[in-house]
Amino acid sequence: MTTKKLMRALAGEALPTPPIWMMRQAGRYLPEYKATRAEAGDFLSLCYTPDLAAEVTIQPIRRYGFDAAILFADILLIPDALGADLWFVTGEGPRLSTMSSQADFDRLKPADDLHDHLAPIYETIKILRRELPAETTLIGFAGAPWTVATYMIAGRGTPDQGPAHALKAENQALFNALMQRLTAATIAYLSQQIEAGAEVVKLFDSWAGSLQDDDFKRYVLQPTQEIIASLKARHPGTPVIAFPREAGDAYVGFAKATGADCVALDNSVSPEWAANHVQIDGCVQGNLASRHMVTGGAELVAETRRIVKAFANGPHIFNLGHGITPDADPANVQLMIDTARESAA
Ligand code: CP3
Repeated sequence: MTTKKLMRALAGEALPTPPIWMMRQAGRYLPEYKATRAEAGDFLSLCYTPDLAAEVTIQPIRRYGFDAAILFADILLIPDALGADLWFVTGEGPRLSTMSSQADFDRLKPADDLHDHLAPIYETIKILRRELPAETTLIGFAGAPWTVATYMIAGRGTPDQGPAHALKAENQALFNALMQRLTAATIAYLSQQIEAGAEVVKLFDSWAGSLQDDDFKRYVLQPTQEIIASLKARHPGTPVIAFPREAGDAYVGFAKATGADCVALDNSVSPEWAANHVQIDGCVQGNLASRHMVTGGAELVAETRRIVKAFANGPHIFNLGHGITPDADPANVQLMIDTARESAA
């Protein structure tokens, strides 16, 4: 029997106060992160240097005592391992070689050939399992195929995922081949993260909200279901958190349709609605707007209490609705944690 709070919530237990962690909890709002990042030189070197990646993973645990640590890495390491060039432009974000033709696709490596490239990530996980406090759960992660495909096709982040929608419309066979390659790579990657010691894995589908109806089923639900089924066959005891960001109404039934143990909610849905329509099927995670980490004060306290109260009758992991931003005040994170832990139902 596990006593780790996060694992108990994932197993379906309603706890007196929710376990807490935060998306992007290792990040530029923390001075200690900025120092280690400077030591590493650039973001990708930080991801691929196990000692430093483990160090930044642990920093928010040391400072705040979160109930979970999330592996420090990035969803774009899979395209990097597949052979798409990847670099980060400071102040702008990721850049990759674009993937728009059959010739581009043919240059990608097969999904079962990524182990050596990603070996440093598994090493980071091993270090973390030795160094994290006994009560802290280690979460591994990957991007979901649709979200990763949007970056690969465009070669960068896009406001509307236009290039990915265009390729899907113009060359569906190529688009489907890319989705299949990413699905297989994600299964292999997450499986190896679990073998290295990840206790939970999370799938980030940050751009799920730009697909609807049949496309949502085909490119969000179905690959998520396939990834979870394969992981469950190999690692039946490892819970999976799915984050179909901005899925809206499609959050309803998402856990049942995909086999996810927990559905992570963004802050576009109200916690009262989500308690009635999503938490009825099992554990949910979320969903405080990250702007409160910038603005703080009475509104942060009121919204944190509201979320804890709305989800108090079922399994809940407290989190933000999206990643914390670099302009956040570290003191507001402490205020959120103190408020959530005081707000017993
Ligand atoms: O949450 C964590 O603390 C763990 C590490 C983590 C990072 N990225 C580190 C990171 C995780 C889980 C991610 C996921 C990720 N990466 C997503 C999905 C979640 C989401 O936010 O929607 C996406 C879309 C990416 C791709 C990505 N990586 C972008 C678009 C950017 C640039 C934007 C930005 O915030 O700068 C990154 C860079 C990145 N990934 C940073 C961090 C800490 C900042 C890089 C830096 O230190 O300079």
